[in-house]
Amino acid sequence: MRATSVAAPMALLLSSSRAYTLPSLVPTGPFFQDLGNETWVIGNEIWNMTQGRQYGVELYYKDHDCVGDAVGHYVNHNGAQSDLNWTSASIHHEGTYQGATYLDVQFAAREGDMHWVIFAGLAGAYQYFVNRDLPVLGEFRTLWRLDNTTFTHGKTDLRDEALPPLSDYLPENKVQDETWRTPGAGGGGGGGYITKYDLTSWVRTQTYYGVYGERFGSWYINAGKDYYNGNHLKQELMIHRESKTGDAVQLSMIHGTHFQVSAVDEFPEGKMWGPWLWYLNDGSREDAAQRAQAEFAAWPYAWFEDEAYHQRGSVQGQLLLSDGRPAAHAAMFLGDNNQSKTALDMCSDYYYTGYTDAEGRFEFQHVRAAAYGLQVWSNGSEMADVTTEFLRKDVVVVAGETTELATMAWPVSNKTRIFQVGDFDRTSYGFAHGGAPYEHGLVEKCPADLRFTVGTSQTEDWCFGQSKLGSWVISFSLDQSPAPCQREGRSNEEATLIMSLAGYSTGASSRVWANDVVIGNLTSGAAPGLLNDPSLYRAGTTAGEWRYFEFPFDAGTVLRPGDNEIRFEVTNNTTWRGFMWDSVVLE
Ligand SMILES: *[C@@H]1O[C@H](CO)[C@@H](O)[C@H](O)[C@H]1NC(C)=O
Ligand SMILES: *[C@@H]1O[C@H](CO)[C@@H](O)[C@H](O)[C@H]1NC(C)=O
Ligand SMILES: *[C@@H]1O[C@H](CO)[C@@H](O)[C@H](O)[C@H]1NC(C)=O
Ligand SMILES: *[C@@H]1O[C@H](CO)[C@@H](O)[C@H](O)[C@H]1NC(C)=O
Ligand SMILES: *[C@@H]1O[C@H](CO)[C@@H](O)[C@H](O)[C@H]1NC(C)=O
Ligand SMILES: *[C@@H]1O[C@H](CO)[C@@H](O)[C@H](O)[C@H]1NC(C)=O
Ligand SMILES: *[C@@H]1O[C@H](CO)[C@@H](O)[C@H](O)[C@H]1NC(C)=O
Ligand SMILES: *[C@@H]1O[C@H](CO)[C@@H](O)[C@H](O)[C@H]1NC(C)=O
Ligand SMILES: *[C@@H]1O[C@H](CO)[C@@H](O)[C@H](O)[C@H]1NC(C)=O
Ligand SMILES: *[C@@H]1O[C@H](CO)[C@@H](O)[C@H](O)[C@H]1NC(C)=O
Repeated sequence: MRATSVAAPMALLLSSSRAYTLPSLVPTGPFFQDLGNETWVIGNEIWNMTQGRQYGVELYYKDHDCVGDAVGHYVNHNGAQSDLNWTSASIHHEGTYQGATYLDVQFAAREGDMHWVIFAGLAGAYQYFVNRDLPVLGEFRTLWRLDNTTFTHGKTDLRDEALPPLSDYLPENKVQDETWRTPGAGGGGGGGYITKYDLTSWVRTQTYYGVYGERFGSWYINAGKDYYNGNHLKQELMIHRESKTGDAVQLSMIHGTHFQVSAVDEFPEGKMWGPWLWYLNDGSREDAAQRAQAEFAAWPYAWFEDEAYHQRGSVQGQLLLSDGRPAAHAAMFLGDNNQSKTALDMCSDYYYTGYTDAEGRFEFQHVRAAAYGLQVWSNGSEMADVTTEFLRKDVVVVAGETTELATMAWPVSNKTRIFQVGDFDRTSYGFAHGGAPYEHGLVEKCPADLRFTVGTSQTEDWCFGQSKLGSWVISFSLDQSPAPCQREGRSNEEATLIMSLAGYSTGASSRVWANDVVIGNLTSGAAPGLLNDPSLYRAGTTAGEWRYFEFPFDAGTVLRPGDNEIRFEVTNNTTWRGFMWDSVVLE
């Protein structure tokens, strides 16, 4: 390792070395050079990059400049005006791990510090960012904008394909934010669009992703995802073609809100995102997949010199439903103890997701020491009928210890169920097009009017999204003595319609009817209306931000023996916007 911090005369020498090619001056092992004019060169014997005040350019790997005319590497929040400015750079730490020397190089901006941990012999670097003073924001990311002739394709867990050519992005075909009709395609009815949102993927289960071509690949491998915001249903952009310049884009969207309601987030000083691995190779996806396996197995990273990072413990326990069943295969989230945000929106600290097993048992490992709120909800399967969620606050995790939560009881509804349409799991899985690959405009394929008959219709007869003027009806029959709620000494009259939405995009309003009585309204817009999550119009097909409603009504006067119906009548509509369904329950 040669960690050189070169002063001005040396910088001159280095710059002239480009012209005269003096190979003896090329350092081996990880290095950091300060050229003295807000320009630094980092890398090792395999790759190097020249970092300026904002952009990292001239990314040399195998003697090839992988950035070329593209913008390069930068860190940015809330759109193009806010690229971070690096005002100084230094070696934060140097060390050796299992015989390999490494340098942790830190670039400082007003908002925080971007670190590159460069090991000898590694094609790429570990990256992490530590907050100092980020503003309240919705989007915070690091990214590469790379040469588009070198990187022609992109890969996520869900897709592996050529990036659409910039020549297909015709201004006259633009239909909304970052969405164009494919030239020659009619658009409408799903398909026929180009949009970066089609290249979204699930954050918490993502293995590796990146851009590649015939000779080069550039990948992100995020082993350990505790620094990301949100729960299991957190989805984000990963890769795309930059629609203004044509660059191949590889995004590390460490804090994104593209598919959720709130984009007003604050971070404590010291919040750390990463380290994750940025990895270069010859374009092989198999090699990137193998590297990802190794990284996942090595997390949390033993080589990382940070005390708080290693203060971790475990949590285990078991959950039983109040009706005696185990809480099987339920989704679990260790989140903020303060419940003022939704699980998807929680973002300030560190978050852990998991599932219970068939017996309702669970264990979280490698959890950063802190106090958490544990939220648990049905992920379908054996628990598809469970509409309640479980919350346990003050789950305290202590470094080096296992927190044992005794067997916990999860109250489930005791009311008599009249019908349920769709599994209760916060997603649209099971319905027509529910969970289809990301595709802009797919909701156009759902009908304006739909009738579902309890007892004969199948779940897939209901469609994943409702966006057109019209009525979706659930018809069901009650026998001679319906008295819906006779158990538990409840009032015979009380019925509750539970409506669970996997997502909702503003621009559609709905009236909810039980027979000929309006039992609820879902109105678009400012509170008490519903707030927007962009999932439905940004190619989402599975989930956006989950919403839960209960509409109680007087069953005695509204329902009758024989045929009855619940009706969702869309009264105002906007193209591609509206309701993404999870489940409807009447009890
Ligand atoms: C900084 O100095 C180097 C070496 O002299 C030179 O190549 C580069 O153009 C300079 N960069 C800026 C931004 O002035
Ligand atoms: C960066 O890589 C290029 C291409 O391999 C090489 O010519 C150059 O000397 C390297 N720069 C440094 C500072 O090592
Ligand atoms: C970085 O500096 C440029 C001017 O060089 C400025 O336009 C930009 O707003 C700055 N970025 C931030 C996040 O302040
Ligand atoms: C690559 O970027 C250039 C602009 O630098 C653009 O003209 C070209 O169309 C892009 N290539 C593709 C395949 O999109
Ligand atoms: C959670 O639900 C999804 C969607 O049905 C399913 O693919 C996944 O396997 C479930 N996870 C577990 C652990 O049961
Ligand atoms: C919980 O968060 C809200 C919103 O940030 C804040 O107003 C409140 O004081 C917090 N409560 C506690 C106990 O920290
Ligand atoms: C249902 O009944 C059980 C047993 O009496 C009780 O523990 C549970 O809290 C009840 N559930 C609800 C939602 O009230
Ligand atoms: C219907 O939605 C449009 C667009 O959001 C809005 O301008 C209009 O006021 C709405 N009409 C009604 C009756 O709600
Ligand atoms: C639905 O909205 C209408 C019109 O704003 C209002 O009169 C009615 O009370 C609402 N009904 C319910 C059940 O919220
Ligand atoms: C509203 O829904 C009707 C179908 O009921 C459809 O014909 C119309 O195009 C929709 N309007 C918009 C703006 O999407």
